[in-house]
Amino acid sequence: MKQVLVIGSEGQLGAEIKVKCKKLTDLQVTFTSLETLDVTNIEQLTATIKAKQYSYIVNCTAYTAVDKAESEKDLANKINALAVEKIGETANNIGAKVIHVSTDYVFDGKNHFPYKEDATTCPQSVYGETKLTGERQLLAANPESLVIRTSWLYSAHGNNFVKTMIRLGQEREELGVIFDQVGTPTYAGDLADTILHIIESDNNQSISFAPGIYHYSNEGVASWYDFTLAILEKMNISCKVKPIETKDYPTPAPRPHYSVLNKVKIKAVYNIEIPYWRDSLDVCLSKMK
Ligand SMILES: NC(=O)c1ccc[n+]([C@@H]2O[C@H](COP(=O)([O-])OP(=O)(O)OC[C@H]3O[C@@H](n4cnc5c(N)ncnc54)[C@H](OP(=O)(O)O)[C@@H]3O)[C@@H](O)[C@H]2O)c1
Repeated sequence: MKQVLVIGSEGQLGAEIKVKCKKLTDLQVTFTSLETLDVTNIEQLTATIKAKQYSYIVNCTAYTAVDKAESEKDLANKINALAVEKIGETANNIGAKVIHVSTDYVFDGKNHFPYKEDATTCPQSVYGETKLTGERQLLAANPESLVIRTSWLYSAHGNNFVKTMIRLGQEREELGVIFDQVGTPTYAGDLADTILHIIESDNNQSISFAPGIYHYSNEGVASWYDFTLAILEKMNISCKVKPIETKDYPTPAPRPHYSVLNKVKIKAVYNIEIPYWRDSLDVCLSKMK
């Protein structure tokens, strides 16, 4: 039986992994949440990782408050970079493989075609910067690590754009939503399936764990405006949505204008099919209803 440690089980992704693990019989999974493990407490972090003979460590923790990070750089760095390095180092000492999640915000968004894993990174925000440092420090500390960059994550668990738009759409008659930022929404349930597939298939099938950086989002492309229209339409909410420009919705942290990820590598290496974002939105909304 493969021993797996999932750190950060109460976040969007962690909670999806926890739900899906209930149906699996080939993995023995231990979960920690902020309550039971604060990853900035390095002593506690290393002791937790060393407590069992884990073969895989999945890190779902992150400092994800993108705007707040601009004024809380130290804390963002502790969670997104220092703790990630420590996870890598400790996992290396016990011979465990690490799966860590990163973000499309490591890019500046000036591309006009989907970003491949080796595209030049150039984060525009403290959040993006700390996530990129985390990726680099993890891969240096533990070469048996896999970093999955994802984008626009949402889930039935936790707070996210989908829930915010449903609430605002019900409260207001009209909403202004940005149309000049383009990316791909990602249902955390799909990413959870992929992470578990990578662990389950390692050494079992013709697929084996191949470390490095991978991109994963749902298929397709959308602006926040398109995404909002789809959410409201599927929820039968008749709020008028007005497309607005980024300059009309200033935020402390700049966002990439274009952050579509190229997913050819993860599909080929791990033999997966990725659902189209509208189909996955249906799945998530039906769970929320
Ligand atoms: N959300 C997105 O749109 C998005 C987009 C691209 C990439 N990603 C990446 O995808 C991954 C999963 O994101 P997510 O949306 O699932 O994040 P999330 O919902 O914010 O979950 C992160 C979890 O980490 C926990 N946490 C924060 N500080 C901690 C600490 N010091 N010790 C232990 N746990 C701590 C949080 O607890 P509290 O909630 O109690 O603070 C939360 O449960 C992250 O690596 C993120 O950077 C997310």
